[in-house]
Amino acid sequence: MNDRPVNVVMQKLNACLQAVRQKTDFVPETAVVLGSGLGDFAEHIEVSTAISYAEIPGFPVSTVAGHRGRFVFGFIHQVPVVLMQGRVHYYEGYQMTDVVLPVRLMGLMGARKLILTNAAGGVNPDFHPGDFMLISDHISTAVPSPLIGQNLDALGPRFPDMSTVYSQRMRVIIRQEAERTGIPLREGVYVQFTGPAYETPAEIRMCRMWGGDAVGMSTACEAVAARHMGMEVCGISCITNMAAGLSVTPLNHKEVEENASRCAAQFRDLITAVIPQL
Ligand code: HPA
Repeated sequence: MNDRPVNVVMQKLNACLQAVRQKTDFVPETAVVLGSGLGDFAEHIEVSTAISYAEIPGFPVSTVAGHRGRFVFGFIHQVPVVLMQGRVHYYEGYQMTDVVLPVRLMGLMGARKLILTNAAGGVNPDFHPGDFMLISDHISTAVPSPLIGQNLDALGPRFPDMSTVYSQRMRVIIRQEAERTGIPLREGVYVQFTGPAYETPAEIRMCRMWGGDAVGMSTACEAVAARHMGMEVCGISCITNMAAGLSVTPLNHKEVEENASRCAAQFRDLITAVIPQL
C-alpha cells in the first residue's frame, strides 16, 4: 500500500487543470507571462477564448491594481499561445507553490516553451528606463524556492539542474529578432527580491556586487518551477526605472506602470516577431 501523503500541491494543480479543460481543449505551444503594464499585448492577438482566474477554483487571484487576471488563448502567426494577463506575486501573501501554480498549469496544458516578462529596476548603471533586457540568468536566493516541500515527482526531479535556466537557443532567436526589428536589447542577470517595498540603495549596491543587472519582484521563481518540469524558458525585462540609489527621484508603482506602458508597443513588436521563430 502506498502511504505517502496525498500531495496537496499536485491535487490543486490537477483540479485547476480539470477546471480549465471543462472550458477549453486549447493546447498552447508557447506560454507568455505578461508583466506590469505589458498586459495590453493580449488585446492584439487573434483570441480564441479567455478564462478569468476567478473561474478556476483554488487559483490564486492577483490583488495588484493594474494586473488583470485571466488566461487568454489564441494565435500569433498561427502559433497557439496562452497569455497570462496578470500574475501573482509572493508579496501578496501567497505560498510560493501558489505563486508558480499558473506557470505549472500552463505547462500541464501542453506549453513546452515559456516567455516570462516583467517590469524591473535597472541596477546596471549603463541601463536607462525604457531599455529591454534579455535575461541571461537570475539570482533567486532572496526568495524561497518554489520547489521546497515534497517533490512533485510527476513534474520533475528533486534536485533539478539550473545551469541553463534561460535557453541559449531562444536567446539567439530573441537577439536576432530584436536586431531585425530595430529594437535595442540589453542582456543581463535578473535578481528577484520579495518586495513589496522597493529596495534600499544598500540592497541595490549588494545586487550589483552579486552580479545583478536588474531587480524585480517576480519571474525567477516561475523560471525555476518551469525548468523543474522541463519547459524551455526565456525572459525579457522592461527597465521601467533606475533602481534605488541610482536616481534622485523616489520610486513609485504608478511611474513603473506608466513607463512599462510606454514600452508596450515595442514590446509587442518584439514578442510578435519572436514567437513564430521559437
Ligand atoms: N525594484 C523592484 N521591482 C521593480 C522595480 C524596482 O526598482 N521596478 C519595477 N519593478
